[in-house]
Amino acid sequence: MTPILPPFPRTRLRRMRRTPALRDLAQEHRLSVKDLIWPIFITDVPGANVEISSMPGVVRRDFDAAIRAAEEAAELGIPAICLFPYTDPGVKTETCEMAWDPDNFVNRVIRAIKERVPEVAIMTDIALDPYNANGHDGLVREGIILNDETVECLVKMAIAQAEAGADILGPSDMMDGRIGMMRDALEAAGHKEVTILSYAAKYASAFYGPFRDAVGASGALKGDKKTYQMNPANTEEALRLIARDIAEGADMVMVKPGMPYLDICQRVKSEFGMPTYAYQVSGEYAMLMAAVQNGWLDHEKVMLESLMAFRRAGCDGVLTYFAPAAARLIQG
Ligand code: PBG
Repeated sequence: MTPILPPFPRTRLRRMRRTPALRDLAQEHRLSVKDLIWPIFITDVPGANVEISSMPGVVRRDFDAAIRAAEEAAELGIPAICLFPYTDPGVKTETCEMAWDPDNFVNRVIRAIKERVPEVAIMTDIALDPYNANGHDGLVREGIILNDETVECLVKMAIAQAEAGADILGPSDMMDGRIGMMRDALEAAGHKEVTILSYAAKYASAFYGPFRDAVGASGALKGDKKTYQMNPANTEEALRLIARDIAEGADMVMVKPGMPYLDICQRVKSEFGMPTYAYQVSGEYAMLMAAVQNGWLDHEKVMLESLMAFRRAGCDGVLTYFAPAAARLIQG
């Protein structure tokens, strides 16, 4: 008797890829407009609303344009925007008082958006660099970044932003101990509902270059940020930072940059199960847009594929300059 041979191949994975309908059924991850946080640059310095040369399609917005961005986010269903100020170099100081001025531009914009577009969550950036004459995220004395003195400033900044109505505070400074100090101060001031999205694993990356142009910090920055931002060669340290910030009261955690650090995103999500976000930073945006403008990459496809990669890596959401364009596509 001849044996019945199994058909070859018995497992055909291509069966589930045959039609769009089958591919939809087999799809493991989805990208939704609800996964997007849109970072915008804002300024009260004259000459706003022009494109940042290293970030095609991205502008610094004046007061009215900032509000229009919030309205656009609401129309598109983007749940949150994140505000980054560009400050007149003439008003930057080494003591950075403007960072916690209740009437600084960021705080005025927060109040206006909360009044007019309350459904959009407002995220802020907590770090001294937009206000610091030497471009660093912390206070500098004799070339040294002062940790504890900086934390005192950051706490004042956090309270001022919470008072203005910020929903999500985003400490991006990488000083030690700031999350716990902010959380205690927020509780003591009665801001029990304000959430903290800690830039917990933030690397000293060359991919922030275009952002520093956008916020006007490139010229000011003396030296680099390697004594406070992480060494790109480290993984375990990122996990220790995340664990520490969660213990100190962070509600959400961030990995930054995004695309070159998807391994970190995956480790963070799988080990802590916290709401985890990645920042697809300015250099990642610039890199993709440069290739798009040269006709080397397809704008829509590369944008959506890059964003889906964050979902696949376990991120709950992404801060991305592509947010409005991606939202239009996802919905369309
Ligand atoms: C600084 C800050 C930076 C970014 C967000 N907050 C730059 C830096 O650390 O020098 C980078 C964002 C981007 O590149 O898109 N507080």
